Amino acid sequence: MESRHAFDLVIRGGTVYDGTGSAGTMGDVAVRGDRIVEIGHVTARGARELDAAGLAVAPGFIDVHSHDDFAVLLEPLMPFKVMQGVTTDVGGNCGSGVVPFEAGLIRFRRMHPDADPKPWDGFGGYLERVDEARPSVNVAVLMGHGSLRRGAIGIEQRRPTTDELETMKGWVREGVSAGAVGLSTGLIYEPGRYAATDEIVALARELGGPSGGLYATHMRNEADGLLDAVREAIAIGEGAGVPVQISHHKASGRRNWGRVRESLALIDEARARGVDVTADQYPYTAGSTSLAAVIQNGAFRSDSPGGLGQLAGEHVLIASAPGHPEWEGQTLASLAGRWNLDAGSAAERVVATVGDACFVITFTMDETDVRTVMAHPTTMIGSDGVPTGGKPHPRLYGCFARVLGHYVREQRVLKLATAIHRMTGMPAAKFQLTGRGVVRGGAFADLVVFDPATIADVATYEEPRRFPAGIRAVYVNGVEVARNGAHTGARPGRAVRRGR
Ligand code: ZN
Ligand code: CU
Repeated sequence: MESRHAFDLVIRGGTVYDGTGSAGTMGDVAVRGDRIVEIGHVTARGARELDAAGLAVAPGFIDVHSHDDFAVLLEPLMPFKVMQGVTTDVGGNCGSGVVPFEAGLIRFRRMHPDADPKPWDGFGGYLERVDEARPSVNVAVLMGHGSLRRGAIGIEQRRPTTDELETMKGWVREGVSAGAVGLSTGLIYEPGRYAATDEIVALARELGGPSGGLYATHMRNEADGLLDAVREAIAIGEGAGVPVQISHHKASGRRNWGRVRESLALIDEARARGVDVTADQYPYTAGSTSLAAVIQNGAFRSDSPGGLGQLAGEHVLIASAPGHPEWEGQTLASLAGRWNLDAGSAAERVVATVGDACFVITFTMDETDVRTVMAHPTTMIGSDGVPTGGKPHPRLYGCFARVLGHYVREQRVLKLATAIHRMTGMPAAKFQLTGRGVVRGGAFADLVVFDPATIADVATYEEPRRFPAGIRAVYVNGVEVARNGAHTGARPGRAVRRGR
C-alpha cells in the first residue's frame, strides 16, 4: 500500500546513539517498513511522529543471555523484556536448549511447569515456531549442550560413545545450517557437567569456524576454581577455532572476591594472542539458579563447595516454588529455622516437595567486582533473567534500565554511549545478528527512546514484577511495541537467524 507520507515513522530531535560507542548526536531517525532509512535532519513527514527532544534514541537492546526459549512461545507479548527496551533476545544459554524437543521440554518445564507446546524438529523447526508465535521481540537461539547431551546420553555420568557423540554433532550441524548463533554449555548443571573438555571441543568444531557461531559458557566453576574455568573456556575456543563468550562473568563466594581482576587478565591475554573472547554480565550482586543445582554443587557443604561456592541459608532467597507460594520471597534460613533444620536439609526438603522447579536467588558477589567487570571493555550486558512464576530475580524486568540508571547516571561506571554499545552494536557483531544493534541507514528499525535523566530499574527482590521508569518508546522491526510504560500489544518480532 502506498503511503502519502514519505516515512512510516520519524523520531524527531533526540540525541541519537548509533550503537558503535560513538557519542550521541542530535538528529531525526526516519523509518519505512521495518528499516531505518534516513538519519540526521529529516524534512519530510512521517505517518507517525515521535518528539524525542531531550531523550536518547538508541538501537533496541540485545539481551545476549536469556532463558526465554519457551517464554517467547507461551507468552509472546514478552512484557518483561519489551518494557525495558529489549528488542532481541538470545535464548539457549547455560546449556539449556530446545533440541532435541523432549530434552528441551524437561529443561523448560522447570520454568513453565504446565508447558505443552506443539513439538518441533531441530533448531530449524524451533525457529519456525518462533515465527508462528509472532512474539513482541526478535529471537535468536544458542544450541544448549545440556539438552543435546540429555537427548543423546540421558543423565549418565560418563563419556559419550562414538555413536552418541555423532548424534550430538548431527544436531549441532543442523543448528548451524538453521541459523542458531552458537553452542552453549552449562558445566555446573546436570548433565552438562559430565562432559570433559574434549567432548565440548569436538562439538564446537562442528560450528565450522567463526562464521558458524560462537561458544558461550556457564563455566564449570565461578568460585574457587574460577581461573581454571576461564582457562578451559578459552582453550575450547582455541581448540575449536571459534569465538568465546563467558556467561555472567563473576567471582562467587567471599573468599574469591576480587579475583575478577585475574579472570579479566586471562581474557586480555587470550585476546592479545588473537582469541576472540568476550563476556556478559547482569548488574547485580545476586545470581539465580535452580535450588537442585545449588545442592548438587555442594554449596551447603563446608568441606568441598563446587562451582557456586559456599552458601549460607540467609544468602538464599526462594524465587519460585510452584504449589508453595508461601515459600516464595523467604530465605532458606527462615524456612530452616521454622523446620528446625540446617540450611542444606531445608533445601533438600524444598526440592523433595517441588522438584527442580524451585529457583532461588543467591547473594554471592561483591559490588566492587560487579563494577570492575562492567568497566572492562570485553563485557556486554545479558540479563540471565529466568521467566518463572513467583518472585523471580529482578534482572528479568530491570537489567538494562539498571545499567543505564544506576551504573551509568548515578555511579558513572560507564559512559552512556559505551553502555549502549555494550547492549547493542557489540553483541550484534559478536552474535552475528546482521543489520541489528546499530542506528544506520538500511538497518532494522529496532529502536528504544528513553530519558537518560530518569531511566531506572524499579524491580526489587521483594517486588520484582515492575517495569522500569524512563522508557518512552520501543520499536521492533519498525513497529511500536511499548509507549510511555505501556505495551501496545503489537507482536512484530521474528526469528533471527545467524548472519541473515
Ligand atoms: Zn548460567
Ligand atoms: Cu543463564
